[in-house]
Amino acid sequence: MASREKVTVRDIVRAKQRGEKIVMVTAYDYPSARIVDEAGVDAILVGDSVGMVVHGLESTLQVTMDMMLLHVAAVARAKPRALVVGDMPFMSYEASINEAVHNAGKMLAMGADAVKLEGGQEYSDVVKALTRTGIPVMGHIGLTPQKHKLLGGYRLAGKTAEEAKKIIQDAEALEEAGAFAIVIEFTAHEVARKITQRLSIPTICIGSGPYCDGQVLVLHDLIGLSLSPPPFAKKYLDTAKMIREAVTRYANEVRQGAFPSAGMYWGMKKGELDRLEQMLEEK
Ligand code: KIV
Repeated sequence: MASREKVTVRDIVRAKQRGEKIVMVTAYDYPSARIVDEAGVDAILVGDSVGMVVHGLESTLQVTMDMMLLHVAAVARAKPRALVVGDMPFMSYEASINEAVHNAGKMLAMGADAVKLEGGQEYSDVVKALTRTGIPVMGHIGLTPQKHKLLGGYRLAGKTAEEAKKIIQDAEALEEAGAFAIVIEFTAHEVARKITQRLSIPTICIGSGPYCDGQVLVLHDLIGLSLSPPPFAKKYLDTAKMIREAVTRYANEVRQGAFPSAGMYWGMKKGELDRLEQMLEEK
């Protein structure tokens, strides 16, 4: 997306029409949002993956609405040009349409430009209600990590024709309900390709091959900060190694008395030390 103006959901849809690839990455805080925005991504996903990669939770099931709102607000404070998508956490949209609208509204109030929710046909009514309210929705199908217990783990989706047909129907139902884009996670590439060809809204893939309108990665996987990244995540940088080396050097310098060095500490005004010593003696 060439323009330097704020990216809108319409720009994301137009990118597909123009044949331009869409780049999305996660960010969960102010400094990383600034950095990924400076790198020129089109969309920033404040994903519920924050629970695992930042908070050390076992899965995304423990992520709460309050956690997500804090992270969305931190990202929004960076005022990114990229579209900010707030991820709806587990149990923030499933129980009732009212609750879904209420919670998605909070995401926008905190600075998100759109929300993302996991699920297909079964959430058509929720997607319709949100878009009717003026809240842009990004769908998320294929592997839906919030349902990993039901799915029996984090398995590749769409391996059989039956499973593939169901995922394609999910995608079509989300488009019909008003979603402006759809994330397809860890799904057979043939299925992601078929969906991309059949839909007029863009597909943004993660672990589902190259035949999509865009790609998304978790920032901590991309920069080497995740302890157990998924098999489809490419590590572009070993930040963990860089941090370890920097902190080891700092620790060595402190222990050897080399840090802080001259120029990195400051003293009292001239004559004040003598006065202080006199004052201490007098007492
Ligand atoms: O939470 C997240 O980071 C996501 C991506 C894996 C798409 O949903």
